Amino acid sequence: MRNLNRIVSAAAVSLAVFAAGLQAGPADAGTLERLKSYGKITLCADRDLLPHSSSTMDPPGFDVEVAQEVARHLELELGFQWVAAFKGQRAIRNLYAGDCDIFMGLPKDKDFLKEAFRLDVTEPYYTGGFAVLLSKDAPSTNLEHYKTKGVAVDIMTVPDFRLFERGFERKLYHGTAKVVEAMKSGEVQAALVPALEAGWLAHTHRELGLRVLDRTEKQYIYPMGFGLRKKEQDLKQAINEALAKIEASGRLKELREKYGVVDLKPDDGSKPEKKAAVEGGSGEKAAPTQVAEAKADPAAPAQGSEASALEADFPSDPASIKKGYSLYKQACYKCHGPNGVSGGTRPDVRAFAGDHYEMFAIVQAGVVDRGMPAWNEYLTETEMKQIVVYIKSLPKPE
Ligand code: HEC
Repeated sequence: MRNLNRIVSAAAVSLAVFAAGLQAGPADAGTLERLKSYGKITLCADRDLLPHSSSTMDPPGFDVEVAQEVARHLELELGFQWVAAFKGQRAIRNLYAGDCDIFMGLPKDKDFLKEAFRLDVTEPYYTGGFAVLLSKDAPSTNLEHYKTKGVAVDIMTVPDFRLFERGFERKLYHGTAKVVEAMKSGEVQAALVPALEAGWLAHTHRELGLRVLDRTEKQYIYPMGFGLRKKEQDLKQAINEALAKIEASGRLKELREKYGVVDLKPDDGSKPEKKAAVEGGSGEKAAPTQVAEAKADPAAPAQGSEASALEADFPSDPASIKKGYSLYKQACYKCHGPNGVSGGTRPDVRAFAGDHYEMFAIVQAGVVDRGMPAWNEYLTETEMKQIVVYIKSLPKPE
Protein backbone atom coordinates (compact mmCIF):
# COMPACT_ATOMS: atom_id res chain seq x y z
CA MET A 1 0.00 0.00 0.00
CA ARG A 2 1.23 3.47 -0.78
CA ASN A 3 1.52 6.22 1.76
CA LEU A 4 -1.02 8.80 0.86
CA ASN A 5 -0.85 12.22 2.33
CA ARG A 6 -4.19 13.05 3.81
CA ILE A 7 -4.45 16.70 4.42
CA VAL A 8 -6.87 18.00 6.93
CA SER A 9 -7.35 21.73 6.97
CA ALA A 10 -9.50 22.04 9.96
CA ALA A 11 -9.79 24.86 12.35
CA ALA A 12 -6.33 25.71 13.54
CA VAL A 13 -5.18 22.40 12.33
CA SER A 14 -3.88 20.95 9.20
CA LEU A 15 -2.54 17.54 9.64
CA ALA A 16 -0.94 14.89 7.60
CA VAL A 17 -2.27 11.48 8.36
CA PHE A 18 -0.41 8.57 6.95
CA ALA A 19 -2.58 5.57 6.57
CA ALA A 20 -0.07 2.93 5.63
CA GLY A 21 0.13 -0.38 7.35
CA LEU A 22 -2.17 0.35 10.24
CA GLN A 23 -4.72 -1.92 11.73
CA ALA A 24 -7.73 -0.71 13.64
CA GLY A 25 -7.41 -3.45 16.21
CA PRO A 26 -9.75 -4.38 19.04
CA ALA A 27 -10.51 -2.11 21.97
CA ASP A 28 -7.64 -2.03 24.40
CA ALA A 29 -8.86 -1.80 27.98
CA GLY A 30 -5.50 -1.65 29.69
CA THR A 31 -3.99 1.55 28.34
CA LEU A 32 -4.24 3.52 31.54
CA GLU A 33 -2.84 0.59 33.49
CA ARG A 34 0.07 0.33 31.11
CA LEU A 35 0.79 4.06 31.37
CA LYS A 36 0.61 3.91 35.15
CA SER A 37 3.16 1.13 35.16
CA TYR A 38 5.57 3.41 33.27
CA GLY A 39 4.44 6.40 35.30
CA LYS A 40 4.36 8.46 32.13
CA ILE A 41 2.11 9.64 29.31
CA THR A 42 3.73 10.95 26.14
CA LEU A 43 2.51 13.90 24.13
CA CYS A 44 3.43 14.35 20.49
CA ALA A 45 3.71 18.06 19.96
CA ASP A 46 5.07 20.37 17.32
CA ARG A 47 8.52 21.58 18.22
CA ASP A 48 7.98 25.21 17.36
CA LEU A 49 4.35 26.11 16.82
CA LEU A 50 3.21 28.62 19.40
CA PRO A 51 0.65 29.12 20.74
CA HIS A 52 0.20 25.32 20.54
CA SER A 53 3.58 24.14 21.73
CA SER A 54 7.24 24.96 21.91
CA SER A 55 10.09 22.67 22.89
CA THR A 56 11.96 25.62 24.40
CA MET A 57 9.14 25.85 27.00
CA ASP A 58 9.36 29.61 27.02
CA PRO A 59 6.40 29.62 27.12
CA PRO A 60 5.47 25.94 26.73
CA GLY A 61 2.32 26.64 24.75
CA PHE A 62 -1.37 26.26 25.44
CA ASP A 63 -1.59 22.59 24.41
CA VAL A 64 1.43 21.67 26.51
CA GLU A 65 0.18 23.41 29.63
CA VAL A 66 -3.24 21.83 29.33
CA ALA A 67 -1.59 18.43 28.86
CA GLN A 68 0.55 19.03 31.94
CA GLU A 69 -2.57 19.70 33.97
CA VAL A 70 -4.26 16.57 32.67
CA ALA A 71 -1.17 14.46 33.36
CA ARG A 72 -1.09 15.78 36.91
CA HIS A 73 -4.68 14.67 37.43
CA LEU A 74 -3.88 11.26 36.03
CA GLU A 75 -0.87 11.10 38.37
CA LEU A 76 1.44 10.62 35.45
CA GLU A 77 4.53 12.44 34.33
CA LEU A 78 4.19 14.15 30.94
CA GLY A 79 6.78 13.06 28.41
CA PHE A 80 7.34 14.69 25.05
CA GLN A 81 7.91 13.48 21.57
CA TRP A 82 8.74 16.62 19.62
CA VAL A 83 7.81 16.53 16.00
CA ALA A 84 8.43 18.98 13.20
CA ALA A 85 5.36 20.77 11.97
CA PHE A 86 5.45 20.42 8.24
CA LYS A 87 4.99 23.90 6.81
CA GLY A 88 2.47 24.64 9.49
CA GLN A 89 0.72 21.34 8.99
CA ARG A 90 0.60 19.28 12.09
CA ALA A 91 1.74 15.74 11.61
CA ILE A 92 -0.17 13.22 13.67
CA ARG A 93 1.34 10.18 12.03
CA ASN A 94 3.36 9.74 15.19
CA LEU A 95 0.21 8.96 17.08
CA TYR A 96 -0.61 6.20 14.64
CA ALA A 97 2.94 4.95 14.81
CA GLY A 98 2.74 4.64 18.60
CA ASP A 99 5.48 7.21 19.30
CA CYS A 100 3.16 8.91 21.75
CA ASP A 101 -0.20 8.53 23.49
CA ILE A 102 -1.85 11.87 22.76
CA PHE A 103 -1.81 14.64 20.18
CA MET A 104 -3.75 17.77 20.93
CA GLY A 105 -5.89 20.22 19.06
CA LEU A 106 -7.88 17.82 16.93
CA PRO A 107 -11.44 18.69 15.98
CA LYS A 108 -14.21 16.79 17.71
CA ASP A 109 -15.99 16.53 14.47
CA LYS A 110 -17.90 13.76 12.80
CA ASP A 111 -16.36 14.23 9.35
CA PHE A 112 -12.86 14.37 10.72
CA LEU A 113 -13.41 11.21 12.76
CA LYS A 114 -14.87 9.44 9.79
CA GLU A 115 -11.68 10.07 7.85
CA ALA A 116 -9.26 9.52 10.71
CA PHE A 117 -11.14 6.42 11.71
CA ARG A 118 -8.40 4.95 13.88
CA LEU A 119 -8.40 8.04 16.07
CA ASP A 120 -10.78 9.36 18.62
CA VAL A 121 -11.05 12.81 20.16
CA THR A 122 -11.87 13.69 23.78
CA GLU A 123 -14.26 16.37 24.95
CA PRO A 124 -13.07 19.82 23.85
CA TYR A 125 -10.68 21.94 25.91
CA TYR A 126 -11.28 25.02 23.77
CA THR A 127 -13.53 26.12 20.97
CA GLY A 128 -11.34 26.73 18.00
CA GLY A 129 -12.02 27.55 14.43
CA PHE A 130 -11.66 30.54 12.19
CA ALA A 131 -12.01 34.05 13.54
CA VAL A 132 -12.33 37.42 11.90
CA LEU A 133 -9.12 39.37 12.42
CA LEU A 134 -9.18 43.10 11.78
CA SER A 135 -6.44 45.68 11.49
CA LYS A 136 -6.51 48.72 13.75
CA ASP A 137 -8.02 50.95 11.08
CA ALA A 138 -10.49 48.43 9.62
CA PRO A 139 -13.71 50.37 9.02
CA SER A 140 -16.20 47.55 9.55
CA THR A 141 -16.55 44.38 11.60
CA ASN A 142 -18.70 42.82 8.90
CA LEU A 143 -16.75 40.69 6.44
CA GLU A 144 -19.18 41.53 3.63
CA HIS A 145 -17.70 45.01 3.69
CA TYR A 146 -14.44 43.56 2.34
CA LYS A 147 -15.99 41.32 -0.28
CA THR A 148 -14.50 43.18 -3.24
CA LYS A 149 -11.49 44.70 -1.44
CA GLY A 150 -10.31 41.28 -0.35
CA VAL A 151 -10.21 39.18 2.77
CA ALA A 152 -6.92 37.56 3.77
CA VAL A 153 -6.95 33.79 4.33
CA ASP A 154 -4.47 31.01 4.83
CA ILE A 155 -4.14 29.25 1.52
CA MET A 156 -6.06 25.96 1.27
CA THR A 157 -7.93 26.33 4.53
CA VAL A 158 -11.68 26.08 4.92
CA PRO A 159 -12.23 29.89 4.64
CA ASP A 160 -10.19 29.94 1.44
CA PHE A 161 -12.72 27.57 -0.14
CA ARG A 162 -15.82 29.00 1.49
CA LEU A 163 -15.10 32.63 0.64
CA PHE A 164 -14.24 31.63 -2.89
CA GLU A 165 -17.60 29.90 -3.21
CA ARG A 166 -19.32 33.01 -1.95
CA GLY A 167 -17.67 35.24 -4.53
CA PHE A 168 -15.28 37.01 -2.17
CA GLU A 169 -11.98 38.36 -3.37
CA ARG A 170 -9.42 36.45 -1.31
CA LYS A 171 -5.86 37.37 -0.56
CA LEU A 172 -3.86 34.22 -0.03
CA TYR A 173 -1.10 33.86 2.53
CA HIS A 174 0.94 31.04 3.99
CA GLY A 175 0.17 31.22 7.68
CA THR A 176 -1.41 33.67 10.06
CA ALA A 177 1.90 35.39 10.86
CA LYS A 178 2.14 36.43 7.19
CA VAL A 179 -1.40 37.77 7.35
CA VAL A 180 -0.45 39.88 10.34
CA GLU A 181 2.58 41.23 8.47
CA ALA A 182 0.29 42.21 5.61
CA MET A 183 -1.96 44.02 8.08
CA LYS A 184 1.00 45.83 9.50
CA SER A 185 2.00 47.09 6.08
CA GLY A 186 -1.57 48.13 5.30
CA GLU A 187 -1.99 45.55 2.53
CA VAL A 188 -5.14 44.09 4.11
CA GLN A 189 -7.63 45.15 6.73
CA ALA A 190 -9.64 42.00 7.29
CA ALA A 191 -8.85 38.31 7.51
CA LEU A 192 -10.52 35.03 8.36
CA VAL A 193 -7.83 32.92 10.00
CA PRO A 194 -7.32 30.23 12.65
CA ALA A 195 -8.59 31.75 15.87
CA LEU A 196 -5.92 30.35 18.17
CA GLU A 197 -3.06 31.78 16.11
CA ALA A 198 -4.89 35.06 15.56
CA GLY A 199 -5.59 35.45 19.28
CA TRP A 200 -1.98 34.73 20.12
CA LEU A 201 -0.57 37.17 17.57
CA ALA A 202 -2.95 39.92 18.69
CA HIS A 203 -1.98 39.15 22.29
CA THR A 204 1.75 39.26 21.66
CA HIS A 205 1.69 42.26 19.28
CA ARG A 206 -0.52 44.61 21.18
CA GLU A 207 1.18 47.61 19.58
CA LEU A 208 -0.56 46.72 16.30
CA GLY A 209 -4.02 47.14 17.81
CA LEU A 210 -5.37 44.05 16.05
CA ARG A 211 -8.89 42.93 16.85
CA VAL A 212 -10.03 39.33 16.91
CA LEU A 213 -13.80 38.98 16.92
CA ASP A 214 -15.21 36.25 19.11
CA ARG A 215 -18.24 35.90 16.86
CA THR A 216 -17.91 33.85 13.75
CA GLU A 217 -20.14 31.86 11.47
CA LYS A 218 -21.20 28.56 12.93
CA GLN A 219 -19.59 26.69 10.06
CA TYR A 220 -16.18 27.98 11.18
CA ILE A 221 -16.41 26.72 14.75
CA TYR A 222 -14.67 23.53 15.83
CA PRO A 223 -14.43 22.24 19.39
CA MET A 224 -10.90 20.91 19.91
CA GLY A 225 -9.97 17.91 21.99
CA PHE A 226 -7.10 15.52 22.62
CA GLY A 227 -6.52 13.03 19.84
CA LEU A 228 -5.75 9.46 20.80
CA ARG A 229 -5.91 5.99 19.36
CA LYS A 230 -9.50 4.87 19.12
CA LYS A 231 -8.95 1.56 20.83
CA GLU A 232 -7.72 3.33 23.97
CA GLN A 233 -11.16 4.25 25.29
CA ASP A 234 -10.18 3.99 28.94
CA LEU A 235 -7.59 6.71 28.41
CA LYS A 236 -10.18 8.88 26.66
CA GLN A 237 -12.50 8.59 29.61
CA ALA A 238 -9.77 9.42 32.11
CA ILE A 239 -8.78 12.51 30.13
CA ASN A 240 -12.40 13.64 29.92
CA GLU A 241 -12.70 13.40 33.67
CA ALA A 242 -9.47 15.33 34.19
CA LEU A 243 -10.60 18.03 31.74
CA ALA A 244 -13.87 18.46 33.60
CA LYS A 245 -11.95 19.03 36.83
CA ILE A 246 -9.56 21.51 35.27
CA GLU A 247 -12.47 23.41 33.78
CA ALA A 248 -14.35 23.43 37.08
CA SER A 249 -11.32 24.69 38.99
CA GLY A 250 -10.93 27.68 36.66
CA ARG A 251 -7.44 26.58 35.63
CA LEU A 252 -8.44 26.02 32.01
CA LYS A 253 -9.85 29.53 31.83
CA GLU A 254 -6.59 30.91 33.24
CA LEU A 255 -4.62 29.14 30.55
CA ARG A 256 -6.95 30.37 27.82
CA GLU A 257 -6.36 33.91 29.04
CA LYS A 258 -2.62 33.45 29.23
CA TYR A 259 -2.49 32.47 25.57
CA GLY A 260 -5.14 34.88 24.32
CA VAL A 261 -7.38 32.00 23.30
CA VAL A 262 -10.55 33.43 21.79
CA ASP A 263 -13.67 31.59 22.82
CA LEU A 264 -15.53 31.50 19.53
CA LYS A 265 -19.30 31.85 19.53
CA PRO A 266 -21.63 31.60 16.58
CA ASP A 267 -22.87 34.82 15.02
CA ASP A 268 -26.49 34.09 15.76
CA GLY A 269 -25.84 34.27 19.50
CA SER A 270 -26.70 30.63 20.17
CA LYS A 271 -24.27 28.35 21.94
CA PRO A 272 -21.87 26.32 19.85
CA GLU A 273 -22.78 22.71 19.67
CA LYS A 274 -20.43 20.59 21.66
CA LYS A 275 -20.31 17.95 19.03
CA ALA A 276 -19.22 20.06 16.11
CA ALA A 277 -20.77 19.82 12.74
CA VAL A 278 -23.15 17.18 13.92
CA GLU A 279 -25.66 19.31 12.12
CA GLY A 280 -23.57 18.64 8.96
CA GLY A 281 -26.82 18.37 7.07
CA SER A 282 -26.23 21.33 4.79
CA GLY A 283 -26.13 19.62 1.45
CA GLU A 284 -22.70 20.97 0.51
CA LYS A 285 -19.60 19.27 1.70
CA ALA A 286 -19.75 20.84 5.13
CA ALA A 287 -16.64 19.02 6.17
CA PRO A 288 -14.14 21.17 8.02
CA THR A 289 -11.75 18.62 6.84
CA GLN A 290 -10.16 18.51 3.49
CA VAL A 291 -9.04 14.98 3.46
CA ALA A 292 -7.53 12.83 0.82
CA GLU A 293 -8.94 9.49 0.03
CA ALA A 294 -6.65 6.94 1.57
CA LYS A 295 -7.91 4.17 -0.54
CA ALA A 296 -6.81 0.70 0.16
CA ASP A 297 -5.03 -0.73 -2.80
CA PRO A 298 -7.82 -1.42 -5.20
CA ALA A 299 -7.72 -5.07 -6.00
CA ALA A 300 -7.72 -3.84 -9.54
CA PRO A 301 -9.70 -6.19 -11.67
CA ALA A 302 -7.92 -7.10 -14.86
CA GLN A 303 -8.91 -4.41 -17.28
CA GLY A 304 -9.87 -5.27 -20.81
CA SER A 305 -8.23 -2.27 -22.39
CA GLU A 306 -5.93 0.60 -21.65
CA ALA A 307 -8.83 3.01 -21.90
CA SER A 308 -10.77 1.36 -19.12
CA ALA A 309 -7.62 1.19 -16.95
CA LEU A 310 -7.21 4.92 -17.46
CA GLU A 311 -10.87 5.47 -16.66
CA ALA A 312 -10.44 3.49 -13.43
CA ASP A 313 -7.49 5.64 -12.35
CA PHE A 314 -8.85 8.92 -13.64
CA PRO A 315 -12.65 8.82 -13.69
CA SER A 316 -13.85 11.39 -16.21
CA ASP A 317 -17.55 11.57 -15.42
CA PRO A 318 -19.10 15.06 -15.54
CA ALA A 319 -19.11 15.38 -11.74
CA SER A 320 -15.35 14.71 -11.55
CA ILE A 321 -14.63 17.20 -14.31
CA LYS A 322 -16.78 19.80 -12.62
CA LYS A 323 -14.99 19.25 -9.33
CA GLY A 324 -11.68 19.45 -11.17
CA TYR A 325 -12.71 22.77 -12.68
CA SER A 326 -13.67 24.22 -9.34
CA LEU A 327 -10.39 23.06 -7.79
CA TYR A 328 -8.47 24.41 -10.78
CA LYS A 329 -10.01 27.82 -10.21
CA GLN A 330 -8.85 27.79 -6.64
CA ALA A 331 -5.40 26.32 -6.99
CA CYS A 332 -4.12 26.82 -10.52
CA TYR A 333 -5.96 29.76 -12.04
CA LYS A 334 -3.70 32.41 -10.59
CA CYS A 335 -0.70 31.10 -12.50
CA HIS A 336 -2.06 29.10 -15.41
CA GLY A 337 -4.90 31.42 -16.31
CA PRO A 338 -8.61 30.86 -16.79
CA ASN A 339 -9.48 27.59 -18.46
CA GLY A 340 -5.84 26.63 -18.81
CA VAL A 341 -5.01 29.58 -21.02
CA SER A 342 -1.77 30.87 -19.69
CA GLY A 343 -1.34 34.55 -19.02
CA GLY A 344 2.28 34.59 -20.13
CA THR A 345 5.31 33.09 -18.43
CA ARG A 346 3.54 30.00 -17.14
CA PRO A 347 3.02 27.11 -19.54
CA ASP A 348 -0.34 26.66 -21.19
CA VAL A 349 -1.32 23.43 -19.44
CA ARG A 350 -3.68 22.46 -22.25
CA ALA A 351 -0.61 21.96 -24.46
CA PHE A 352 1.07 19.55 -22.04
CA ALA A 353 2.38 16.69 -24.14
CA GLY A 354 2.41 13.92 -21.55
CA ASP A 355 -0.45 11.64 -20.54
CA HIS A 356 -2.66 11.76 -17.46
CA TYR A 357 -0.10 9.95 -15.34
CA GLU A 358 2.73 12.29 -16.29
CA MET A 359 0.63 15.34 -15.61
CA PHE A 360 -0.44 13.90 -12.27
CA ALA A 361 3.21 13.35 -11.35
CA ILE A 362 4.04 17.00 -12.08
CA VAL A 363 1.05 18.31 -10.17
CA GLN A 364 1.94 16.12 -7.21
CA ALA A 365 5.64 16.87 -7.00
CA GLY A 366 5.72 20.29 -8.66
CA VAL A 367 8.77 21.84 -10.27
CA VAL A 368 9.48 23.64 -7.08
CA ASP A 369 12.70 25.42 -8.07
CA ARG A 370 10.94 26.83 -11.13
CA GLY A 371 7.88 28.15 -9.40
CA MET A 372 5.43 25.27 -9.79
CA PRO A 373 4.25 24.25 -6.31
CA ALA A 374 4.07 20.62 -5.19
CA TRP A 375 0.39 20.06 -4.64
CA ASN A 376 0.44 16.86 -2.66
CA GLU A 377 0.92 18.97 0.43
CA TYR A 378 -2.39 20.67 -0.18
CA LEU A 379 -4.62 18.52 -2.32
CA THR A 380 -5.78 14.98 -1.98
CA GLU A 381 -4.93 12.37 -4.55
CA THR A 382 -8.53 12.36 -5.74
CA GLU A 383 -8.54 16.12 -6.07
CA MET A 384 -5.32 16.18 -8.07
CA LYS A 385 -6.73 13.53 -10.38
CA GLN A 386 -9.92 15.53 -10.83
CA ILE A 387 -7.88 18.55 -11.85
CA VAL A 388 -5.90 16.45 -14.34
CA VAL A 389 -9.13 15.08 -15.80
CA TYR A 390 -10.49 18.61 -16.10
CA ILE A 391 -7.37 19.90 -17.88
CA LYS A 392 -7.32 16.88 -20.17
CA SER A 393 -10.96 17.54 -21.06
CA LEU A 394 -10.08 20.95 -22.50
CA PRO A 395 -9.52 21.37 -26.22
CA LYS A 396 -5.83 21.57 -27.16
CA PRO A 397 -4.70 25.05 -28.17
CA GLU A 398 -4.10 25.73 -31.86
C1 HEC B 1 2.58 29.80 -8.35
C2 HEC B 1 2.30 29.57 -9.73
C3 HEC B 1 1.72 28.24 -10.14
C4 HEC B 1 0.59 27.62 -9.65
C5 HEC B 1 -0.35 28.12 -8.56
C6 HEC B 1 0.45 26.41 -10.42
N1 HEC B 1 1.46 26.29 -11.31
FE1 HEC B 1 1.69 24.77 -12.63
N2 HEC B 1 3.43 25.61 -13.27
C7 HEC B 1 3.95 26.80 -12.84
C8 HEC B 1 5.21 27.05 -13.50
C9 HEC B 1 6.10 28.26 -13.29
C10 HEC B 1 5.43 25.95 -14.35
C11 HEC B 1 6.63 25.70 -15.24
C12 HEC B 1 7.66 24.90 -14.49
C13 HEC B 1 8.86 24.61 -15.38
O1 HEC B 1 9.46 25.57 -15.83
O2 HEC B 1 9.11 23.44 -15.59
C14 HEC B 1 4.28 25.07 -14.19
C15 HEC B 1 4.12 23.89 -14.87
C16 HEC B 1 3.00 23.10 -14.82
C17 HEC B 1 2.78 21.92 -15.62
C18 HEC B 1 3.72 21.37 -16.67
C19 HEC B 1 3.43 22.09 -17.95
C20 HEC B 1 4.40 21.75 -19.05
O3 HEC B 1 3.97 21.91 -20.20
O4 HEC B 1 5.52 21.35 -18.73
C21 HEC B 1 1.56 21.44 -15.29
C22 HEC B 1 0.86 20.23 -15.87
C23 HEC B 1 1.03 22.29 -14.27
N3 HEC B 1 1.92 23.30 -13.99
C24 HEC B 1 -0.19 22.12 -13.66
C25 HEC B 1 -0.65 22.88 -12.60
C26 HEC B 1 -1.85 22.59 -11.88
C27 HEC B 1 -2.78 21.45 -12.17
C28 HEC B 1 -1.95 23.53 -10.90
C29 HEC B 1 -3.01 23.63 -9.84
C30 HEC B 1 -3.19 22.48 -9.00
C31 HEC B 1 -0.81 24.41 -11.04
N4 HEC B 1 -0.04 23.98 -12.05
C32 HEC B 1 -0.59 25.52 -10.23
C33 HEC B 1 3.39 27.65 -11.92
C34 HEC B 1 2.25 27.38 -11.18
